[in-house]
Amino acid sequence: MLTCLKKINITMNNSLLKELEKFSPTASDLISIEDLKKSEIENIFNLVEKTENLLKGEMKKTFLLKGKTQLNFFMENSTRTRTSFELAGKNLGADTINISASASSMSKGESLLDTAVTLDSMQPDIIVMRTPSSGAVKYFAKNVHAAVINAGDGCNEHPSQALLDLYTMQKFHGKNLKGKKLVIVGDILHSRVFGSLARAAKLFGLNTIVTTPHTLIRPDLSYFNVTHEPNIEKALKDADIIYSLRLQTERASLSYVPSIREYSKTYIINAARLKFANPNAIVMHAGPVIREVDIHTNVLETEHSLVPHQVFSGYCIRFVLLNLFANKRKLKKVDSRPF
Ligand code: CP
Repeated sequence: MLTCLKKINITMNNSLLKELEKFSPTASDLISIEDLKKSEIENIFNLVEKTENLLKGEMKKTFLLKGKTQLNFFMENSTRTRTSFELAGKNLGADTINISASASSMSKGESLLDTAVTLDSMQPDIIVMRTPSSGAVKYFAKNVHAAVINAGDGCNEHPSQALLDLYTMQKFHGKNLKGKKLVIVGDILHSRVFGSLARAAKLFGLNTIVTTPHTLIRPDLSYFNVTHEPNIEKALKDADIIYSLRLQTERASLSYVPSIREYSKTYIINAARLKFANPNAIVMHAGPVIREVDIHTNVLETEHSLVPHQVFSGYCIRFVLLNLFANKRKLKKVDSRPF
């Protein structure tokens, strides 16, 4: 049985490898969703479709990245992103290593730049990085030869999240999302999920509306072709996709609302509010979902909620991204550095 599974797996590996070899993104790092062209995102989604059976199967292990080193440098907590990147890396046969800020020498005062140069000296092929500081991943990426994937930087961007979200939307609403009404509810001001999702939605022609208190809006909505409707019931009318964002309490969001209770009463997605949307509307959330604050259980535990589907899409998206960016090290140009 095991031999048979291994044979199937090797055949899948070979055909997947051929597909992957046909395409390489232009960018050396994935910092922003704007690092990818629309056609490149479509190529990524075609590859992701082909990995789904492999990652749902009995034998997930491949050797597509055998000999490659993947560092997961997470300076902030994570369940979904870190686990899926690590699991995907292991399934690809890469050597994966996890580093946290508290367990690194940054806790002794080493600078981010010196940490970057130090880690890069160990010749990693790919670094997946999360940080509470907006812009820090771009700065880090400029100073290392390894390809860097932004796994979330402060209030700025979280590009692999937007890719998995768009891919999940396509699975449920079809590949052509142009004109679909996307309503984003919640903490727009502090959300890196919004930063990447709004860019991706613009690229794919969605009609995006945000609903949130005036205190949690950001000043550059026109850049994203996004409008603001503070009244949630009005915003939800005929929505095809409802995307709930968590209040970023770790980024002082609580000082922007009177109280969690009041915020939740006004902006929670519940069964009564879902009735304003299209009957086949899907409800999404990047996670972690705060039940009865962001989304009520009477929506979260219905077929409208795609939260577990998003997590599986994330695993597949990250499997493909690691493949596509793991060969960039030898091509990347890095300015002269200290040390
Ligand atoms: N969506 C997301 O980034 O979740 P984690 O913080 O658990 O990685």
